[in-house]
Amino acid sequence: MTDPIFVVEPGGALHGRARVPGDKSISHRAIMFGSLAEGVTTITGFLEGEDCLATLKAFRAMGVHIDGPEEGRVVVQGVGLHGLRAPDGPLDMGNSGTSMRLMSGILAGQAFDVVLTGDASLTLRPMRRVTEPLARMGARIGSTARGTAPLRIGGGQQLTGIDYELPMASAQVKSCLLLAGLYAEGVTRITEPAPTRDHTERMLEGFSYPVTREGDRTVAVTGGGRLTGTEIDVPADISSAAFFLVGASIAPGSDLVLEHVGVNPTRTGVIDILRLMGADIKMLNPRLAGGEPVADLRVRHAPLRGIRIPGNLVPLAIDEFPALFVAAACAEGETVLTGAEELRVKESDRIQVMADGLTALGIAAAPTPDGIVIRGGALSGGTVDSRGDHRIAMSFAIAALRAKSSIRIRDCANVRTSFPGFATLARNAGLAIRELA
Ligand code: S3P
Repeated sequence: MTDPIFVVEPGGALHGRARVPGDKSISHRAIMFGSLAEGVTTITGFLEGEDCLATLKAFRAMGVHIDGPEEGRVVVQGVGLHGLRAPDGPLDMGNSGTSMRLMSGILAGQAFDVVLTGDASLTLRPMRRVTEPLARMGARIGSTARGTAPLRIGGGQQLTGIDYELPMASAQVKSCLLLAGLYAEGVTRITEPAPTRDHTERMLEGFSYPVTREGDRTVAVTGGGRLTGTEIDVPADISSAAFFLVGASIAPGSDLVLEHVGVNPTRTGVIDILRLMGADIKMLNPRLAGGEPVADLRVRHAPLRGIRIPGNLVPLAIDEFPALFVAAACAEGETVLTGAEELRVKESDRIQVMADGLTALGIAAAPTPDGIVIRGGALSGGTVDSRGDHRIAMSFAIAALRAKSSIRIRDCANVRTSFPGFATLARNAGLAIRELA
C-alpha cells in the first residue's frame, strides 16, 4: 500500500460552506442493525470510509445482501437476528475498533464459530474490556495472551443477561454488551461511569427495539425481541467537522459553515471545550434527522485561551482531542487535560504521538499518564509522524494554518478510514494542502 504524506503550506483562512462525510459511529451501526433487522433498511449519508466498509464487508461475508454504497446510499436486506451465516474465513476489521468491539457482541450470540482480526494497530488494542463481560454472559470468546485480537468466538452458546458496571467510559463496550443482550435470556443492564455516545440506544429504538434508560448512566435491553428495518439519514460526523472547527477558530479571517452536522449532546464536548477557550461557534437551524439532532455550525476566528478541561466533557469529546491539542497550541496560556487515559489506547497512543508532534513544531507539550499540559506558543514548521493515526494526521494538517513554515505529515494512508476526500475538502475551504503518494 502507498504511504501518502501531506504537505501543508503555512497560513490562510477557512471560508465558505462544507459538508464533511457521514458519521462513522452511526454508519457502522446502520449496517449492523440493518443486517440484523427484518425487512429492508435504506441508509443515506453513509460514510464510505475504510472502517465502515470493513463492517459492511463482514456482513456481506455472513450472507447479508447489501447494495451500494453509491454516493452514500446503501440498501440492506435484513436477515433477522438469527439469519447470519458462517463466513468462509476470518473477518478482517482493518483499523476499526468499533467494528471489532461491537461485532464481538453480535457474534457471541450466533450459532457458528468466527474469528475477528485486524491491522497492526487494531491487534494491539485492548479487547479484554469486551471479552471478560461477554464471557460472564456465557460467551465462548478467546483472545491472545495479551488480551488482544485475533478474537475467536465460539458459536452455539446460550447467553444470559448481566448487570454490569463498566470500568471505563466506553460506548464501544456498552454497545457490544447491549448487542449481546439482544441474544441473551433476560435483561442486560449496563451502567457507565459517565455518559458516553448513545447512538446504539437511539438506533435500537429507531429499529423498534425497546430500550430502557434509567437516569443518564444506565441502560437496559431484554433479549428475544426483533428489529424492524427502517430508513437512516446519517448526519455529517462532528468528529470530522472538529478539524474545521479548530482550523477556523485559530486562523485569522476565517468564517466557515459546516452543514448538517450531528450534534447529539453525547458528542458535542468539542464545541463546549472550544467555547470555554473563547471560540465563536454558532449552532444554526437545529433539527432532527432520523432520531439524531443535527445543525449547521458557523465558526469564525476568535482568540483562544488555555483552560483546564472539565472532566465531564472528556468522554463527550474523546475523538476530538488531537484537534483540540492544536487549538491549545494556538491559545494563550496553558491548557491542562486530565482523566483521559483512554487516549493512550486509541488508533495510536494519542497523548504521546501528539506530544511528540507538537514538540517537533516548537510547542511545549508535556504528556502525563492520563492527559497532557500544553503551553500555547508559536508553531514552527517541520515534519511530524502521524503513526498511522487518521485523526493525528488531519490535526497537524490544520495546525499549518498558524505555522511559520510548511508542515509535512508522514503516514497519512489511514485518513481514508474516517475521512475520504479530506485533502480536497480542506483545500476547497482554504487550506494549502497537497497529498503526495
Ligand atoms: C465509538 C466509541 C469511542 C470512539 C470511537 C467510536 C463508537 O470509543 O473513540 O471512535 O462508535 O462507539 P470508546 O468506546 O472506546 O471510547
